[in-house]
Amino acid sequence: MKRSQINNAIKVAMERLAEYKITLPCFGYWTKENWIKNQDITGTIRERMLGWDVTDFGTDDFEHCGATLFTVRNGDKQDKQLKMPYAEKYIILSDENEQEIPLHYHVYKSEDIINRGGGVLVVQLFNKAEDGGLDKERDVMVYTDCIKRVLKPGELIEIQPGDSITLEPYVYHRFYAKKGHGILIAGEVSKVNDDNTDNVFYQPSERFSNVEEDEEVTYPLVNEYNVF
Ligand SMILES: [Fe+2]
Repeated sequence: MKRSQINNAIKVAMERLAEYKITLPCFGYWTKENWIKNQDITGTIRERMLGWDVTDFGTDDFEHCGATLFTVRNGDKQDKQLKMPYAEKYIILSDENEQEIPLHYHVYKSEDIINRGGGVLVVQLFNKAEDGGLDKERDVMVYTDCIKRVLKPGELIEIQPGDSITLEPYVYHRFYAKKGHGILIAGEVSKVNDDNTDNVFYQPSERFSNVEEDEEVTYPLVNEYNVF
């Protein structure tokens, strides 16, 4: 995707978060110059990949398939004592073209996906079949705000503002913002997050995009901290 799309996506996300009175930690507003200036004190932030993460999952179709994420906190899986066994993110999805995070599951991570406001979150679920694909026979058992639900394979479930859904490992999930309901601010509260190894996509996807540099970097992404 283009750098101009990334810069714009972060600007839109910042505006939407501000509208909902959500303030990010200071590094959420740092430009590339701020990151360079604060290099000595940000080793842990960079290692744990906190900050902005804009991706089209390698589709080159950000409007339909992609997300603007901000990782607020994250532990370290290598830390055997796991002093911080959790992670938190914001996920901003445009409703204009029902922008989606494509079907994937996690091997390690359980996550609550939360509708923090602004739109309607739609989630589609399948169990993982023996062959690694989608199980189109078995119902999916899932909890929404600790209320047990049984869904048909591939059934869509809407999560309204304030509500959430708990996704366990090996459950395929895809989610998007419902058209006409506004730019969605979703949240994620999970076990430690490792986006380099713990996403298994149904269709071949890149977790991080190749970037075409058509303008200057405004806010660096989590996978770019080692570049400068
Ligand atoms: Fe996920």
